[in-house]
Amino acid sequence: MKHVLPVSWTENDGRGRVGGVALTELAARFGTPLVVVDEGHLEDRLSRFRAAFGTDAGLTYAGKAFLCGALVRLLDREGWLVDVVSGGELELVRRAGFPGRNVILHGNAKSAVELERAIRYGVGRIVIDHPDEIGDLRKAAAATGAEHRPDLLLRLNVDLTPETHEKVRTVGPGTHFGMSPSVAASVARRIAGAGEWRLAGVHIHAGSQIRDPALFSRVAEAAVDFVAPLRLCFPETVDLDLGGGLAAPYRAGEEVPSPREYAGALEAGLHRSEAEARLGAYRLIVEPGRSVIANAGLTLYTVHARKRLEGAGEALAVDGGLSDNPRPSLYGASYEVLNASRGRGEAERSFRVVGRHCESGDVIAPAATLPGDTAVGDVLAIPGTGAYVFAMSSRYNGVGRPAVVFVRAGRAREVVRRETDDDLLACDLSLGGPAVGPLRSATREAVRT
Ligand code: LLP
Repeated sequence: MKHVLPVSWTENDGRGRVGGVALTELAARFGTPLVVVDEGHLEDRLSRFRAAFGTDAGLTYAGKAFLCGALVRLLDREGWLVDVVSGGELELVRRAGFPGRNVILHGNAKSAVELERAIRYGVGRIVIDHPDEIGDLRKAAAATGAEHRPDLLLRLNVDLTPETHEKVRTVGPGTHFGMSPSVAASVARRIAGAGEWRLAGVHIHAGSQIRDPALFSRVAEAAVDFVAPLRLCFPETVDLDLGGGLAAPYRAGEEVPSPREYAGALEAGLHRSEAEARLGAYRLIVEPGRSVIANAGLTLYTVHARKRLEGAGEALAVDGGLSDNPRPSLYGASYEVLNASRGRGEAERSFRVVGRHCESGDVIAPAATLPGDTAVGDVLAIPGTGAYVFAMSSRYNGVGRPAVVFVRAGRAREVVRRETDDDLLACDLSLGGPAVGPLRSATREAVRT
């Protein structure tokens, strides 16, 4: 179980503490559902990646896994880059004071306004998903009148089928990201020939929650195979951005590769390609998200009901669920559950832990083993919820998004406050929400001019 928990985890007869603070104390002080992030764990992960990849690698945190101002400042201090996929994420990192040159903009449907904002902000790299984006970029650059031209990376969709959930596979049959190597090659020649933009390199992100290091080797090999024959289209040092995807452990006993094994697998793939001799100088970039933050975080809930289910044991209903963690319903994700309020004295029993939402699919854990005397008012903790949980939360059923606290050395600081009813209703114009000018609205962004 230890490896799914934050590094600072300690427990006293089953009652957990993270960053030196008791989970029950955090629940009492900040309310539940609550996302708790162990800052020490985060720093430990960042330094393990740095040790594995060395100082020259472009370590880039995939913001989509979880993003907030406090995290962005930590990443900046540690010399990481950040990848973003929308105007909203771009604005978050910009307001956190993050240097634009260290931002990579992704997206398979970037709006004209997003491109303009990225250019004005001075982002370092934009990843081109499809051939038409070159024209979109040209227009966006003209509209801004800015001198700055981001470096471009071409996103490749290579012929691999990673072993992971099909919803998080991003290359191979049936996927819609990037370009086939033949299309990308013609785009590369076009960009290099026109000389208007600097074609810095390529990008491949094969998928997420990947456990097999051999897949990463194949990704690296595919990148070299693509770049080497087109070497003259790229600068002297070419960027090989090999995406993210390293798995995080969710259940006790689940093994995943370490950052060092991950780096080793990529390195082995680079050397395996027969084209390596023609590759010349390169800069390796990786974009881990989940493997940095998943196990730094856990979610706290309060039990609101305990009841017997006809022929199906007993259920514990908590004050969150589908709205703060859609992963069990979307991907069949499976988590451990701990009772932070009770010791292990009482014999354990199996409970179905369910959320508060009006759907039978709102099940956080179908069969969690917990103390038999678990009762209403107890605080439950779900480890491994640092990634793609808060980031994917919604306001379904009128439930505001949870607060986030960072803990370290016996202290807790709230870094994102809980959403209030006023936040929930702020965009409802018939309830008095302030109108926002049409040019700034999201619908306007979607219309290309
Ligand atoms: N780079 C790109 C271009 C990506 O699309 C992603 C993830 C990453 C990097 C980071 O991948 P990671 O290291 O976190 O695996 N919501 C899903 C995961 C979707 C991942 C999307 N792309 C989940 O909850 O499992």
